[in-house]
Amino acid sequence: MKQLKALQASALLLAWCVAAIVHSSAAAQPSSVAPGINSYYQNPDWQQWVNTFERPGREVYDRRHAIVDATGVRPGMVVADIGAGTGLFTRLFAQKVGDAGKVYAVDISRPFVENIMRTGREQGYTNIEGIVNSDRDTGLPPASIDLAFLVDTYHHFEYPARMLASIFQSLKPGGTLVVIDFRRDPERSSRWVMGHVRAGKDVVIGEVSQAGFQLLDDKPWLQTNFYLVFAKPGI
Ligand SMILES: C[S@@+](CC[C@H](N)C(=O)[O-])C[C@H]1O[C@@H](n2cnc3c(N)ncnc32)[C@H](O)[C@@H]1O
Repeated sequence: MKQLKALQASALLLAWCVAAIVHSSAAAQPSSVAPGINSYYQNPDWQQWVNTFERPGREVYDRRHAIVDATGVRPGMVVADIGAGTGLFTRLFAQKVGDAGKVYAVDISRPFVENIMRTGREQGYTNIEGIVNSDRDTGLPPASIDLAFLVDTYHHFEYPARMLASIFQSLKPGGTLVVIDFRRDPERSSRWVMGHVRAGKDVVIGEVSQAGFQLLDDKPWLQTNFYLVFAKPGI
């Protein structure tokens, strides 16, 4: 009888421990908000994605110089191009920050980062550093960057709250976060955008503000994309 009671107590303790572990890991790691959205970047055909991202007719390609100028980037700054893809914006920022500055090309896709580094070397850039990050963390040092830049990347975040917390941590106080992404309007957006893009501008503003950022500007001049500027409070 005594043995049976001890066995029951152990079984209860074990069940409690398992429930506690499951609960705490679920709280620390909520499920993906967009499962599978990045699967085609895991083993990408580099040239195919260069042709896709760096193609006339893509608004953020056509307006790339105006987009970069509007960030206020200056020589000597440290910029993180998060979700760098084929490095279209990484290279433009590298030209602007010069030798005294630095651009981190951050992407969860190792082939993308390796190709950005390879083409960067071939073109003579010495101020680009690649980071293959996890889908929940930028991999950037704390308080290390002046500008975090996301083009067409926010809706690819599977764990947006985790990524925003990590971006917040990697920005210097007073640093800037720029988010450019597709407008999502049932009246005007394509069926592809409505199906592919999880969050419209208002949802993005809500989520980014929730992470501690202050909205500074909502630039109206892109047609199919919004352009939001946030600050990490601090100075
Ligand atoms: C549509 S592409 C945009 C590429 C580039 N920003 C451009 O506009 O040309 C989205 C990119 O985000 C990357 N990505 C998705 N989730 C990410 C995350 N959590 N951290 C960093 N990169 C991520 C993907 O691998 C992909 O390269």
